[in-house]
Amino acid sequence: MKILVTGGTGYIGSHTVISLVNSGNEVVIVDNLSNSKIQVLDRLYKITGKKIKFYKTDVRNEKKLFAVFRKEKFQGVIHFAGFKAVGESVEKPLEYYSNNLESTFTLMKAMKTFGVRNLVFSSSATVYGKPASVPIYEDFPLSTTNPYGTTKLFIERILTDWSKAEKGMNIALLRYFNPVGAHESGLIGEDPNGIPNNLVPYITKVAVGKLPFVNVFGDDYDTPDGTGVRDYIHVCDLAEGHVAALKKLETNPGLVVYNLGTGKGYSVLEMVEMFRKVTGREIPYRVTPRRPGDIDVCYASTEKAKAELGWEAKRDLEQMCRDSWNWQEKNPDGYSK
Ligand code: NAD
Ligand code: WQD
Repeated sequence: MKILVTGGTGYIGSHTVISLVNSGNEVVIVDNLSNSKIQVLDRLYKITGKKIKFYKTDVRNEKKLFAVFRKEKFQGVIHFAGFKAVGESVEKPLEYYSNNLESTFTLMKAMKTFGVRNLVFSSSATVYGKPASVPIYEDFPLSTTNPYGTTKLFIERILTDWSKAEKGMNIALLRYFNPVGAHESGLIGEDPNGIPNNLVPYITKVAVGKLPFVNVFGDDYDTPDGTGVRDYIHVCDLAEGHVAALKKLETNPGLVVYNLGTGKGYSVLEMVEMFRKVTGREIPYRVTPRRPGDIDVCYASTEKAKAELGWEAKRDLEQMCRDSWNWQEKNPDGYSK
């Protein structure tokens, strides 16, 4: 299939491009490079041996996006483009609502105009808010605690309404848990601007000596060691989940929703310990107060994705940490060197 990947030079998008190419799809990327680097394209070429067609375009730019659709004639779209930082979304809600919602509206218009009927959307486990229990099933109640999460929830609802109105549209809402790791080559990986917000890129920056210690946000949670527990998933497993979802859309299922996680939870201290093991370096840490909005425990039920997509995560925590470290060690300054 010929697939448009919006946000395809970003962290998850770039890994998904590899899985798409490896499974025989033709890929076109649209990205405005607001949170990614052009160097990703050379790295993708090194890994896949294919020149991936790229348009430096804002998905909200209707004229330019329509021109891409007119020219390329897609059979499907994976929509990664958007802003994703929870804390920043609290500071700049308008930018988050504008970028995440408007890009989706423009994309929907283009898909309708050019008769493209298959869409995979990047949602997030954040739409479960504070779940009443774990594991989290897809039919749990939805709520959010920050503007970023609300954009994901709004978009899920908008796409659900659209799929009811537009018969023949096939849409997969994929709720990712905590993506980490990098391609085994160490050529692509997560390259956050400034000080990382998320745990794993923060730990690797400590391991590489760019930050002095990890701040452990609270050790009084209702978990075995008191620190927060999350469902970390290797980004390459996540990428393969998108290929499985696209295959599912070929069966005309209408709207489908899947968790993409491993079903296992690890605490902050277990993550620090695993990085100590794979890096062979001490990872100093200090316990600091809880981060507002954080929850105790979050991990997925993986039953539905396994049963209906035939997909499950294969890579374990050690591989996630080893691959994150491999990327960080080979690229201490991310893509800029
Ligand atoms: P990322 O920032 O690395 O990638 C997003 C890409 O979209 C970037 O390359 C950015 O330049 C591009 N982009 C943003 N707005 C755009 C616009 N208007 N037009 C064109 N390009 C635009 O983020 P990621 O971690 O790869 O996340 C991809 C998607 O998955 C996002 O929608 C994010 O919300 C979602 N998600 C991420 C996580 C996570 O922890 N990384 C978890 C759940 C869901
Ligand atoms: C993981 C654990 C922290 C940093 C976020 C978004 C979510 C999704 C994935 C997009 C928690 C603790 C963290 C640090 C720490 N993204 N921590 N010190 O918060 O589970 O999920 O990314 O959709 O929407 O909210 O991920 O990596 O920030 O935190 O102790 O410096 O590590 O308290 O328990 P989170 P995270």
